[in-house]
Amino acid sequence: MAQSVTHLLATDLDGTLVGDEKALRELLMYYSELPYRVALIYITGRHKESAMELIQQEQLPLPDILITDVGTEVYSGPDFVRDEGWKQRMEASWEPERIAEVAACCAGLVPQNVPAAHRLSYTVWNEHPIYELEERLQSVGIPHKLIVSSGRDVDILPPNGGKGEVLRYVLASRGWERARILVAGDSGNDHEMIMLGYPAVIVSNAQPELLQLPAHPSVFRAKHACAGGIREAWKYFYDGIITDKRTNISTR
Ligand code: GLC
Ligand code: MG
Repeated sequence: MAQSVTHLLATDLDGTLVGDEKALRELLMYYSELPYRVALIYITGRHKESAMELIQQEQLPLPDILITDVGTEVYSGPDFVRDEGWKQRMEASWEPERIAEVAACCAGLVPQNVPAAHRLSYTVWNEHPIYELEERLQSVGIPHKLIVSSGRDVDILPPNGGKGEVLRYVLASRGWERARILVAGDSGNDHEMIMLGYPAVIVSNAQPELLQLPAHPSVFRAKHACAGGIREAWKYFYDGIITDKRTNISTR
C-alpha cells in the first residue's frame, strides 16, 4: 500500500464496530470529516467468507487488512490476498489432529462447524470442560493457546496465534507501529490486543471477562456501546491532535 498510514483503527467486528447501526454511521461520518485518513484493520473471530458477508450486509468500508479466525489468518487489501508469512508462523507448531483427539475426550465440548485451518473451535454450556481440556492439553504437552469468549466460545489456536500476536506482526511487517492507533474490542478474544499497550477501548456492552479487567492507563472504558464507544475513545485519545500531512508532525 503506497499511501502512508498515520492513523489506524484496529477493531473487532461483532459487538464492537457492528451492533449499533446509528452509532456506526456516525462513526464513519466522523472519520470521513477528519483532516487525515484512518486506516482500518478488522480483527474478527469469523472466518473469511463470514466476515466478508458481514462487511457487505452492514455496508462497512473495506479494511486495509482483514484478520480472521481469531488472529490466525491475515488478508491484505485491496484483493485480500493471504499473508503467507503469517500462515507459515501458524503452521510452525500446530497439531490439530492431536488437539481434536484430546478434545473428543472432554464431555461438554461441542465442535463448531467452521472451515478453519489454524484453529479448533468449540461451544460450551458451562466452564468445566474448559478446565478439563486445558489440563489434558498441558499434561500431554501439546503447544496451543486456549481462548474463551463470552463464556461460550472456546478457541484453540497455535501457541503464537491470537489477536494480540497477529496485530503486533501486522504493524511491524507494514511499518505502522508509529501510527496513532486505537484498538477496540468487546470479548475474551480481544483481551490480548487490548493489552498490547496501544491506546485501546473496551466498549460499554463488553462481556464480563473484559469489564472485569483491572484498570490500565492505555485502556479506556467507554460509556457508549459498539461504534459509539469507538468514537468516544477516538475523541478521548486523538481529538485536538492535528497532524500535518506533509511533515507528519503532530501538534495539539
Ligand atoms: C466468532 C466465531 C467463532 C469463535 C468466536 C470467538 O463468533 O464465529 O467461531 O469461536 O468468534 O472467538
Ligand atoms: Mg466481538
